[in-house]
Amino acid sequence: MAQKSLLRRIHSMKDRIIFAIETSCDETAAAVVLNGRKVLSNVVASQIDIHKKYGGVIPEIAARKHLESINIVIEEAREKAGIEMKDVTAFAGTAGPGLVGALLVGLNAAKALSLVYDKPFIGVNHLNAHVCANYLESSFEPPFICLLISGGHTQLIRVNSYTDQQILGETRDDAVGEAYDKVARLLGLPYPGGPALDKLAQTGNKESFKFPEANVSGYDFSFSGLKTAVMRTCKTYTEQDLPKADIAASFQEIVSSTLLKKTLKAANENNIKKIALAGGVAANSEIRKKFFAQENNGFTVHAPEFKYCTDNAAMVASAAYFGSNITHELNVEVFSRKK
Ligand code: KG4
Ligand code: ZN
Repeated sequence: MAQKSLLRRIHSMKDRIIFAIETSCDETAAAVVLNGRKVLSNVVASQIDIHKKYGGVIPEIAARKHLESINIVIEEAREKAGIEMKDVTAFAGTAGPGLVGALLVGLNAAKALSLVYDKPFIGVNHLNAHVCANYLESSFEPPFICLLISGGHTQLIRVNSYTDQQILGETRDDAVGEAYDKVARLLGLPYPGGPALDKLAQTGNKESFKFPEANVSGYDFSFSGLKTAVMRTCKTYTEQDLPKADIAASFQEIVSSTLLKKTLKAANENNIKKIALAGGVAANSEIRKKFFAQENNGFTVHAPEFKYCTDNAAMVASAAYFGSNITHELNVEVFSRKK
């Protein structure tokens, strides 16, 4: 069906219910969201326990587990929302970026539902969905500067409107979540490292180590040098003597202050006093603390609830509703890297 007529069909209905599916990495998720903001259901089946024993996500296992869980998760999301599939305005699925085999499961499930129930299908960009998590259960709206920090991506985005986003800067090497996971592994913490490192850091002294801050121009970031510096420090200790909590706190301090500095630079230079956090690492306690403290300095700061920071399908539904980076074609293909 042509894109225009599909859009007309969606826009002709007053209340729009989007049923979304997300399987880009290791969470099988489905959600039902009303008018882009009101979450009617949000079901996430995590595979963490399965991947934990390998210390990271194994793509083939992730895809197989998505296949096992997808129908159960879809039915649970429908039931919890108290709707029938015929009430759905459109079905949405994450097209990428992510693990191709994993993405295929959720995207094809969303396409199949759209064919069975004769409703439009919307392919969503995962990064855009993380940004849109800020609209869930809130009246937050553009324009704002968004710091997107996830396991695979780190971007500073100028969100001009619901459909106009401009990337101001991004990481030149590791993503913030990746740096957290790698440092956590050096400290012997279990996968996923980010939350474990966050917890440990709260018991350490952030002044213990002065790790280097990358000197990157503009709005770009770099975290691989920091990771190497932490690795060198770890090597100077025996396993028993390793001051894990102090290293974690010092690492978290430099990461959070670098992220804040660049974000404030973007907000000030673009004259936008509204800042939002997005992505799994936005659940981090120190990063939230430092950012929300800026409310005393004339900034409005927003972050999604914890459950909408890490991967979920409610954010995918919101992105489908607000309509940036979406494709209303059944032939939309999965993609692994950002585009
Ligand atoms: O957005 P997300 O769920 O998946 C991707 O799209 O990548 O982000 C996952 C990342 C992982 O690297 C995980 O360690 C990190 O978010 N993360 C955290 C925290 N919670 C999740 N990192 C630091 N502190 C946390 N509290
Ligand atoms: Zn994500």
